[in-house]
Amino acid sequence: MELFKLQTLVVAVLLSSTAIAEAYVRPLPRKNLDLGGFRWPWDSKTNSQPQQVHVSLAGDKHMRVSWITDDKNSPSYVEYGKSPGRYDLVAEGDFTSYSYMLYSSGKIHHTVIGPLEYNTVYYYRCGGQGSEFKLKTPPAEFPVTFAVAGDLGQTGWTESTLDHIDQCKHDVYLLPGDLSYADYMQHLWDSFGKLVEPLASTRPWMVTEGNHEEENIPLLKDGFVSYNSRWKMPFEESGSTSNLYYSFEVAGVHIVMLGSYADYDEWSDQYRWLKEDLSKVDRKRTPWLVVLFHVPWYNSNKAHQGEGDDMKTAMEPLLYAASVDLVIAGHVHAYERSKRVYDGRPDPCGAVHITIGDGGNREGLAHRYINPQPNWSEFREASFGHGELKVVNSTHAYWSWHRNDEDESVKADDFWITSLVSSRCVDDKSHELRSMLMKP
Ligand SMILES: [Fe+2]
Repeated sequence: MELFKLQTLVVAVLLSSTAIAEAYVRPLPRKNLDLGGFRWPWDSKTNSQPQQVHVSLAGDKHMRVSWITDDKNSPSYVEYGKSPGRYDLVAEGDFTSYSYMLYSSGKIHHTVIGPLEYNTVYYYRCGGQGSEFKLKTPPAEFPVTFAVAGDLGQTGWTESTLDHIDQCKHDVYLLPGDLSYADYMQHLWDSFGKLVEPLASTRPWMVTEGNHEEENIPLLKDGFVSYNSRWKMPFEESGSTSNLYYSFEVAGVHIVMLGSYADYDEWSDQYRWLKEDLSKVDRKRTPWLVVLFHVPWYNSNKAHQGEGDDMKTAMEPLLYAASVDLVIAGHVHAYERSKRVYDGRPDPCGAVHITIGDGGNREGLAHRYINPQPNWSEFREASFGHGELKVVNSTHAYWSWHRNDEDESVKADDFWITSLVSSRCVDDKSHELRSMLMKP
């Protein structure tokens, strides 16, 4: 009899799990793309053709061009101009390289070009070799459009997301962490660089680090060696001492890229730098204040539940005092949008939090949610996709999230957000902010 009861229970569990599985018609992970990045250490490295070209913002009117050559003698200059094939200007940069166990990287070049005109197409060539590339600089004023997707990886789904981002007329791409999913396999950083080059060489890619960038081997390798060498961001230009956190401005938007994997407590460099950076924000010049980092603070998915709590406790009061409009995170492989929220409760002076770790990596989707849905959570769905933020003017912006419906891009969530600059929050909190920022 006991055996019968046990069998019945097992059948019931199996049936119910089948029913749950059938409730989700979610796409499966897609395979890693084979981009041929692997090479044996003894293979010759004399190719001076630039590869893995990408661009990023590097202070007002300047952009950084980054690329890699196998040939260690290849020069680090960029020729550029406003007509194809005619390079009136040239900038000299610097280079780095790194080794990681048996792997040694190519020569990684970083060259800042400018001053550049706003909203202008430039043609450029790296190291006097290879193909001509073309980039467009962001506008000086509104409107400005950002494409957003985290946790990209390099699978068939990544390809689909990149294709949709390419179709959206964006000025800058924002990536809240987890780029290549190389996970210690260094040649996968090279294949990722090749995969994203068609987009990343044409519009600035502004990234911050996720856990998959860390690649720490205790006593052997410090974390973030590959990421910091390859994806240099404007940290020096924004007064930061670490590539893991920095800020930049585009049109009327001040964007802070924080590091979920750098120290963030009150005594940390990152906290001190953040206070300083926020104290310099002029909401008349940049009415919008946006913050990105990897691990979400507001997440009702069961995946990575509570992981962002410590950083939230340490830094949320600062962001609140500064009247941040929008916070974008990744890490959880799904999409979620909150109401304006602070300290776990809806608050008209808090930020809207968006989790968008759904770029398409090999780990697949996170589709188990906490129920009932918390009252701060407005929309949630476990699908791959990307977001678009169109900042129309100093007070209004339009956010939309587009799911990858197989290989079609379908808008599944959208809303208008009004900046806190047009509310009383900024004035009401200015005293609070001043006292927090003045605190040593
Ligand atoms: Fe992550």
